[in-house]
Amino acid sequence: MSKTITIIGAGSTTGLALVPILLQETSATLHLVTRSKVNIEHSRIVASHVNVTSLSELKSTILGQLPSVIVNLVATSSVDACEADKETAQVLNVTLVKDLVRLARATDAHLVHLSTDYIFNGERGPYAENDTPAPINYYGKTKLSGENAVITSGISSTIIRTNVVYSPFPSRPDFVHSVLKSAETNSPVRAASDLYGNPTYVDDLAEAIVRVIETAAQGIYHVGGSDYVSRYQFATKIAEVFKLDTSLIHAVQAADLQLPAKRPLRAGLSTSTTEAVLGLRFRGIESGLICLRNSLFSK
Ligand SMILES: NC(=O)c1ccc[n+]([C@@H]2O[C@H](COP(=O)([O-])OP(=O)(O)OC[C@H]3O[C@@H](n4cnc5c(N)ncnc54)[C@H](OP(=O)(O)O)[C@@H]3O)[C@@H](O)[C@H]2O)c1
Repeated sequence: MSKTITIIGAGSTTGLALVPILLQETSATLHLVTRSKVNIEHSRIVASHVNVTSLSELKSTILGQLPSVIVNLVATSSVDACEADKETAQVLNVTLVKDLVRLARATDAHLVHLSTDYIFNGERGPYAENDTPAPINYYGKTKLSGENAVITSGISSTIIRTNVVYSPFPSRPDFVHSVLKSAETNSPVRAASDLYGNPTYVDDLAEAIVRVIETAAQGIYHVGGSDYVSRYQFATKIAEVFKLDTSLIHAVQAADLQLPAKRPLRAGLSTSTTEAVLGLRFRGIESGLICLRNSLFSK
């Protein structure tokens, strides 16, 4: 009998890229737990529409499938939304993770949990897997609590940290789509020249999750692109790849954007250890943006 992989938050940006790759590269049955409509018809997909914040609903759907792997992609991943609604951030980024740890333990499933470079303070990124976390905003604090719930549980588990994910088909507008929307209507784009990360093409993240599942790799892994750039440099490259007017991109300081949540300025993730262990190479922004453009235009 083939194994079952449960994906909690299958309608997330990451989930939308992960599901087709898992179907292609594995023979597993995919149990998709989501609030969203599942648009893929496939004999190896089972969809469950449950309220993930209800332990009893979550328990009954997981016990109904008895997966060997649970991948958690649910989060309040908007940094500013976490600051505005701390209660929801706590429920999704911490309480749900604790519930999944309990259910993974009860079913002997391996738990793969996604986290972020924002658990670090941004004073000297990019960060290695064993650097010491020190979050400076509520999103980072809740994500670190979620990580700790997994790590201290002793169950079979993997933490995959990523940053600045971009996708042809995101669940909500990401940085690339925001820049494209502004530039296509000739509106100026204000992008921070002091906010750094290494943007991650979503397929590279999905491939890393698949590799972790296939190899049952445990511990902490870092997934990010090969270019460490400011948001201003990233926005300029987006305009170049999409042949838009680069003079619309204006460099500002992150503080000038008056965002609700404080940003760790030099964040990002060093990935050499993860790439060596998982046998993967993560692409840079030009290559990722060309893939994104090709996917958008072939749709
Ligand atoms: N995107 C990034 O740049 C980034 C950077 C660093 C780390 N991460 C981490 O990577 C993981 C995946 O991120 P992502 O960007 O792919 O996620 P996303 O697109 O923001 O989606 C998160 C998913 O969580 C579920 N969800 C959100 N609010 C909910 C609510 N109130 N009740 C129930 N479910 C809710 C939804 O799943 P359904 O649609 O299936 O219901 C939603 O699609 C997260 O752990 C995030 O913290 C992301």
